[in-house]
Amino acid sequence: MTIPPPALSDILVQDGRPDTGDGRHVNMPVELGSTMVFDRLATFEAARANRYASGTMYYGRYGNAAVYKLEELLARLEGAGSVTLTSSGVAAISCALLTFARPGADLLVADNVYGNTRGFCDGVLARMGVTIRYFDPMIGAGIADLMTPETCAVMFEAPGSGTFEMPDIPAIARAARAAGVPTILDTTWGTPVFCQALALGVDVLAYSGSKYLCGHSDAMLGVIASTEAHGLALRKTVMQIGDKTGGQEVMLALRGLRTLQMRMAHVDTAGRAMADWFAAQSQVKRVLHPARPDCPGHAHWARDFSGAASLFSVVFHPCDSGQVERFVDALHHFGIGVSWGGFESLVLPVTPERTATPWDEPGALIRFNIGFDDLGTLQRDLAAALPHLNAQ
Ligand SMILES: Cc1ncc(COP(=O)(O)O)c(C=O)c1O
Repeated sequence: MTIPPPALSDILVQDGRPDTGDGRHVNMPVELGSTMVFDRLATFEAARANRYASGTMYYGRYGNAAVYKLEELLARLEGAGSVTLTSSGVAAISCALLTFARPGADLLVADNVYGNTRGFCDGVLARMGVTIRYFDPMIGAGIADLMTPETCAVMFEAPGSGTFEMPDIPAIARAARAAGVPTILDTTWGTPVFCQALALGVDVLAYSGSKYLCGHSDAMLGVIASTEAHGLALRKTVMQIGDKTGGQEVMLALRGLRTLQMRMAHVDTAGRAMADWFAAQSQVKRVLHPARPDCPGHAHWARDFSGAASLFSVVFHPCDSGQVERFVDALHHFGIGVSWGGFESLVLPVTPERTATPWDEPGALIRFNIGFDDLGTLQRDLAAALPHLNAQ
């Protein structure tokens, strides 16, 4: 009898737990520690030689039993040959980029990436002598025309931060592979529950676990998941920089992952319901939510994703900044904040920073994260504040 592959829910429940043995807890303990000691020099030397491999007990900065359990669980979820944890999503993205960057190289970056990704490219990488070339996120297979012999990597995001264009992931991945250029994708929004991006041909996923993975806005975490071929180089960058995940964060991530699939099912339904509600309001010009047919790249989302996160943007009819401020300040159930993916609902006016594809759509762009609040409560809150904006 052939055993069927484990379901996603089986991995989320069974993996990342203490090994067999009577009287074990169902969760990994919080592991705190720096030094690890050995009784024999030969065993210590073997650990040192193998210190970059996930699973090696050598020194706290490289990992411990709980870190390796979480890496293993994430590797199964992503179908990855290698996973390395980092202290934040920004650290994951920066370390992934540094792994491939070199002076004199050019780096292709989608024009709609997260602000700190752009900041790292224009700051640290540019100072290192890397030329950053921003491209239209909807370029698809056309990325092939931008490749030069000096192109060291392609960095993109699905969907784009703030403006939610969904790229053609397989087309970009295929073109880059054909040119021998690695792709790095930020998949914070989709999580492995909704998108298996390595199976779509991407080489490296670098994303924030502070959002949906941990899921309760109480921890910072980053994840680098890749094919086996890139795993060692990526791990070395993280270890050599000295980035490291804390014991408490690892525990919170493991706990968050147990309910990830259920939470994602909820945000999928809640986010779409709220996106549809916004679309029916007279102050709204359009809703940028990948599951809505008028969102750029909707067909790519429908093909490559099995659900949608509850982070999306709304373009309101043109109004002045005072009106936006009065609207946002009038909301009681939406906190003003930059993160997302937790239980709380959030609102954030967005000003896209673009150089390759200017964002010149008239109207106010505001991003919403729908948490676990009652949707009727959220709609009443919004309905009371919307008269501050212009209706049409
Ligand atoms: C799309 C995206 N990627 C990465 C990050 C960075 O993650 P972290 O806050 O864990 O550093 C964020 C944070 O807002 C984000 O929105």
